[in-house]
Amino acid sequence: MNESRVPSHVAIILDGNGRWAKKYGQPRSFGHLQGGRNLFRVAKVAQKLGIQKLTVYAFSTENWKRPQEEVNFLMTKPIEMFSENKDRIKEIDYKITFAGRRDRLSKELLEVMEYIEKATIKNSGFELTVAVDYGSYDELLSAINQLEKPVTKEDIEAHLMIKEPVDLLIRTSGEQRLSNFLLWQVSYAEFYFTKVHWPAFNEKELKKALKSYMKRQRRFGGLK
Ligand code: IPE
Ligand code: IPE
Ligand code: MG
Repeated sequence: MNESRVPSHVAIILDGNGRWAKKYGQPRSFGHLQGGRNLFRVAKVAQKLGIQKLTVYAFSTENWKRPQEEVNFLMTKPIEMFSENKDRIKEIDYKITFAGRRDRLSKELLEVMEYIEKATIKNSGFELTVAVDYGSYDELLSAINQLEKPVTKEDIEAHLMIKEPVDLLIRTSGEQRLSNFLLWQVSYAEFYFTKVHWPAFNEKELKKALKSYMKRQRRFGGLK
C-alpha cells in the first residue's frame, strides 16, 4: 500500500445486511447484527491503513419507512450492545462522532451516542463518523436555513454535518446509487461499487477498493 496515496476521507454506504442474512437463511436482524460488528472491524483496518476519516451510512432519513419491527431493532439493539460492552469503549483509540438529525431518536439512544462521543473526543488521528437519521437533503436544508442570504460555498460547508470532501465513496452489495448520502461532499469523489454484502466486507475488500482508487487520476476539472 503506497501510504502517500491512501485516500484521506473514505465514505461507505454499508448496504446488504438483509440480503446477506437471507443468503444464510437468517432473519434480516441477524444481518444488521453482523453488519454492526463489522463496522468496528473495518474501522480498525481503515485506521491501520492510514485513512484519516471514515464516514459510514448506518440509517437514512428514509429508513423510517421500513417495517416497525425492523426500525425498532435498529434503534434499540445498539443500546443493548452498548450496555453489555460499556467497559470496552475505553479501549477505542480513535474518535467516534455521529452525524444526522437528533430530534427523532430516543433519549436512550442519544445518551449512548453522547457517551461514545465524549469518551473518544480526546483521541487524535483517525475519526469514525456514523451517520444516523442522516439524509443529504435534510443536511443541506438545515445548513441553508441557518444562514443569511446570499450564501457562499464556504458558508454552506461551515454548516454541514460532514465538512470534509469525500475522496473515495464505497457502496457494498451491488446497488449503484447514492440514496441521499453526502450529495455535496462527493462532488469530486471517486466511486467504488462492489457486490460484496456489508457483513462480508473485510480487510481484503477494503484494500481492493483502495488499490482501485490509487490507480485513478483525479483531475478536478483540470488537465494532467
Ligand atoms: C444496510 O442494509 C443497513 C441499513 C440500511 C440499515 P439493508 O438493510 O439495506 O440490507 P438490504 O439492502 O435490504 O440487503
Ligand atoms: C442506504 O441504503 C441507506 C443506508 C445504507 C443506511 P438503503 O438500503 O436504504 O437504500 P435503497 O433504499 O436501496 O436506495
Ligand atoms: Mg439496502
